[in-house]
Amino acid sequence: MDPNKLIFVAKKAMERAHAPYSGYKVGAALICDDGTVFKGCNIENASYGLTNCAERTAIFSAIASGKKDFVAIAIAASKAPVPFPCGTCLQVLAEFCAPDFPIHIANEDGYETTTLGELLPHAFNLKEDPSDA
Ligand code: THU
Repeated sequence: MDPNKLIFVAKKAMERAHAPYSGYKVGAALICDDGTVFKGCNIENASYGLTNCAERTAIFSAIASGKKDFVAIAIAASKAPVPFPCGTCLQVLAEFCAPDFPIHIANEDGYETTTLGELLPHAFNLKEDPSDA
């Protein structure tokens, strides 16, 4: 899928964020090898540490729906800073995706693309092939 279309879906997902504490809404769109796209948003909690990021919401939704072969993820936020995925979300992605997995991040010019391996070069992994879940 065109990264611009995946970014568009991430922005739609962002509208569903529950972010009353930070005021920073995040949306994610995760596309699977069969073309299915899973949306995620950040879900904050009065007990701050229970917050779930948009990326993990999308990943967990996909896994719960029986999908785990992912092609790319797009992430968008309601305001600055540009939403590079946090370390926790990167480690969760590393459970299912190879280092060349594309991560499209919305910015003021449109989007920029990086990879899981670039953002988390030394992911903890017990398996030889990260995509072999
Ligand atoms: N957040 C995400 O949803 N994804 C990220 O990659 C970084 C941070 C959320 C968590 C929290 O609800 C808000 O952004 C501020 O940290």
